[in-house]
Amino acid sequence: MDIELDESILLPLQGLLDGDQGLNLGHLGNALSQVKANLPNKSWVGVYLLEKDRLVLGPFQGSPACEAIAFDKGMVGNCFSQGQAIHCPDVSKYPGYICCDPIAKSEICVPIIKQGKIIGVLDIDRPDNHDYQNEVKIYAEIAKILANWL
Ligand code: SME
Repeated sequence: MDIELDESILLPLQGLLDGDQGLNLGHLGNALSQVKANLPNKSWVGVYLLEKDRLVLGPFQGSPACEAIAFDKGMVGNCFSQGQAIHCPDVSKYPGYICCDPIAKSEICVPIIKQGKIIGVLDIDRPDNHDYQNEVKIYAEIAKILANWL
């Protein structure tokens, strides 16, 4: 279960940038699928997108999830409001954690920034307790690539 995402994930995602730019949703879905394939089984990978006064569920790979999150709720809302990556190796200890699937044990949320504005949050859950410290930069790069299709 001790799988860590490394820089090699970026290559296939950057490859999608050279593809047909009319296929944004397809690129987004493939990119999320590619990330999930590099994580343990039963991980969840998806995006929450800014819509007026809340964050709504966008494309994702994994089990059904909460469809709307307020700016001041959960890890996703905190990531958006604070404008920075938030990660937790044991979500049972995170105050205000929103549980969508009890199988999730650790989580990282990274802001998706487009033209200087936060337009959403990339959210990753894993079914194991995991320290994301060494992966924050990689997920930020992934969020940057996803922003091209949003
Ligand atoms: N756990 C998140 C909610 C989204 S799901 O994990 C897919 C949170 O605390 O905001």
